[in-house]
Order: sequence, then C-alpha cells, then structure tokens
Amino acid sequence: MKALCWHGRNDIRCDTVPVPVIEDSRDVIIKVTSCAICGSDLHLMDGQMPTMKSGDVLGHEFMGEVVEVGSGFTKFKKGDRIVVPFNINCGACRQCKLGNYSVCERSNRNAEMAAAQFGYTTAGLFGYSHLTGGYAGGQAEYVRVPMADVAPMKVPEGMDDESVLFLTDILPTGWQGAEHCEIQGGETIAVWGAGPVGIFAIQSAKIMGAELIIAIETVPERIALARKAGATDIIDFMNEDVFERVKEITKGQGADGVIDCVGMEASAGHGGLTGVLSAVQEKLTATERPYALAEAIKAVRPCGIVSVPGVYGGPIPVNMGSIVQKGLTLKSGQTHVKRYLEPLTKLIQEGKIDMTSLITHRSHDLADGPDLYKAFRDKKDGCVKVVFHLN
Ligand SMILES: NC(=O)c1ccc[n+]([C@@H]2O[C@H](COP(=O)([O-])OP(=O)(O)OC[C@H]3O[C@@H](n4cnc5c(N)ncnc54)[C@H](O)[C@@H]3O)[C@@H](O)[C@H]2O)c1
Ligand SMILES: [Zn+2]
Ligand SMILES: [Zn+2]
Repeated sequence: MKALCWHGRNDIRCDTVPVPVIEDSRDVIIKVTSCAICGSDLHLMDGQMPTMKSGDVLGHEFMGEVVEVGSGFTKFKKGDRIVVPFNINCGACRQCKLGNYSVCERSNRNAEMAAAQFGYTTAGLFGYSHLTGGYAGGQAEYVRVPMADVAPMKVPEGMDDESVLFLTDILPTGWQGAEHCEIQGGETIAVWGAGPVGIFAIQSAKIMGAELIIAIETVPERIALARKAGATDIIDFMNEDVFERVKEITKGQGADGVIDCVGMEASAGHGGLTGVLSAVQEKLTATERPYALAEAIKAVRPCGIVSVPGVYGGPIPVNMGSIVQKGLTLKSGQTHVKRYLEPLTKLIQEGKIDMTSLITHRSHDLADGPDLYKAFRDKKDGCVKVVFHLN
C-alpha cells in the first residue's frame, strides 16, 4: 500500500509498505477514506521531535472504513465508518477514567522512553515518533487501530468525511485551547497563530462568549479565515508591535486569556535583528523558537490564563518571573480528544462550526504528499489545510 513516510529532516516520501494486520483482539484495520496533514506533522518534518526513525509512517488525522476486526471485537463491524482520535486510549487506567485521554498510562508501548523525558508516560499517538509508541500513522491506505473499542467513534448517518475528519484533532484542540481560558462571556481572548488550530480556537472562543477576539498572524489568507471565524481584531506580528497593540485594544488592561496556537516553530515578529536572526535560525537549525509563547505571557493581564495547545518538545526559555509575579495560570497539553467527540459532533450537526472553509488543498493521491507537505510548511499557493480523499 502507499503511505507517507519520514526519512529524515525535510525528507518525506510516498513509499510502498506492507498492509497492516490484526495483532490484538482489540484491533481493527481501517481502509483510510480521508486524512490530513497537521501543523504537528511539520515539527516531525523539520526534525524538531526526537525519536523518529527512517521509514516511520506519518499521520494522526484520519478516518475510514473498518475492513477487519480482532477476534470477538463487537464495538464496530466491517463496513462501519469511523473517526479515529489521534490519541490511543486503553479506557481502563486511572487517567482514562479521569477523562485525561492524552496521558493514558497504558497505550504507549515505549512508556519508559516517555517517562525518561517527561517524568511519567503520555498516551500512545499515531504517527508521532517512538516517544509516543512508534505506532504507524494514517497518511496511508490502511491503518491498524489498537484499542479500537475505546477512542474511535462511528460516524453518524448523513455526515460526510469533511464534516467529521477534524474531530480527530484540530477541532477539539482549538476547543480545548479556548476552554482552558475559562470563558464566561465578555472576555478578551488573544490567539497567536491563525493556522488550522488557531482558526478553530477562534470559532470556539466565539461560541463560548468571548467579546473581543484578537488574532495574531501575518499570512493574508489565514487572516481572512480568522476574521471569518470571529476575530474582532487582527495584529500582523511581522509589521506591528504585538504587545503594544494588545494593550491598546484592551484599553491598557491586557487580554483575559491568551492562546498559543503556534508552538515551537514560531517566527520572530517585527523587531529588526531578532527577526533576521530568526529567519536564519529557521532555515538552518532545528532548535525550538518560543517567540509566540513569550509574547503571549507578556500580553496577558495579571491573573489571566495562558493556554498552550501549541506543541513543544523539550526545555525552552520562558519568563517564569512574569508567570509568578503576574499570578498567571498556565494550561496546556495534547488534546483529550475523546472528551469532546460527542459535544462537538452535536455543534457540527447544528451548523455552529464551519468545518470546510480552511481546506485549501484536496488530493486523491498520497503520491502528492511530499509536495503538499512543502506547500503547507511554506504556506505556498495559499495553503492552509491539506486533505487527502482516498476512496
Ligand atoms: N495540543 C495538541 O493536541 C495539538 C494538536 C494539533 C496541533 N497542535 C499544535 O498546534 C500548533 C498549530 O498547529 P496548526 O496546524 O495550526 O499549524 P500551522 O503551522 O499551520 O499554524 C501556525 C501559524 O502560526 C503563525 N505564526 C508563526 N509565528 C507566529 C508568531 N510569532 N505569532 C503569531 N503567529 C505566528 C504562522 O503564520 C501559522 O499560520 C502546532 O504547534 C501544532 O503542533 C497541538
Ligand atoms: Zn494534528
Ligand atoms: Zn488509559
């Protein structure tokens, strides 16, 4: 079968690999009907996440049709269409029972490796390095879904792939990012990055009742999508002083909640030498660049909330003084996708969430993958979100 595989920094290929087989009674095999490329995949492409191996199958946003089930498996049957959250959940450990699905204690086959890095293990993830279990991902024609009786959801009648595909990751991620800001109604929320995650964070903050939503971005088509999603103010981080503008928009108060939807590969904004150095750094090295997070921590009001859905892989310099002295609350994490499947499906069915405007590139062939990865990374041809339809 065809699959998009990692072969080193900036080296993604469409390979022919063996079709996966059932390994456990809780497995199902799906034939992928749709899958997408995520900003998190760019961290792998750019060599920022450790423990990738040559030949690893990428992809954690995918859905498809069940073609095989483990012995005695009853939750799904052949022919069912399912969406598969990017975290794998055992359903029985303490964290799964608490609903903390992205830190399931039993789904990561390389739990010791993760514990050595972070103190304790985190959940197994599809297509996301050996630190998270080394599971083959879903930018492929077929995927083995372990523990398939827990996280995956059968697609409700009448919903097409594009209305549910982003339930696997970016919609719940934007939602959790906004939920972390504890929006009661009337707040000012500032969102760094209007990529797919930022766009869903903006839509979510609006649904939750934020009054002002400030989007910080520089790419014109992403700014347009941010406005459509509900942003009331835009700051172009390449041409404006973000902190001063947030201060001005909030009449000197600072934002109540800030959401970092950029993560470890931020570009340094306007500001002369830093901008130039960052551009060089982006091209040459694979070091983390926490510019957006640093700005968010500065721009939030005292006793405000800093929400970080943006992904970081290791230690980075942040202003702890600002966090302590301003009394900030910091909330973060890989998304507990399963928590949000039902409520968000309902909002989609009620037409409250725009699922498709951000899809700019559609392909029917994984062989286009290497070029589309580059287009997405470089934001070429207006690329905001790439979806493959494989049926
Ligand atoms: N927590 C989770 O479970 C989870 C899930 C999915 C994605 N993510 C992470 O969310 C982040 C965003 O993902 P995406 O798919 O939207 O990626 P993306 O790369 O398409 O979007 C990032 C956006 O940030 C903008 N940006 C760059 N530097 C900036 C700066 N200094 N200030 C403001 N904006 C800046 C870019 O122009 C871009 O539009 C990534 O780090 C990704 O790994 C986390
Ligand atoms: Zn993702
Ligand atoms: Zn678990």
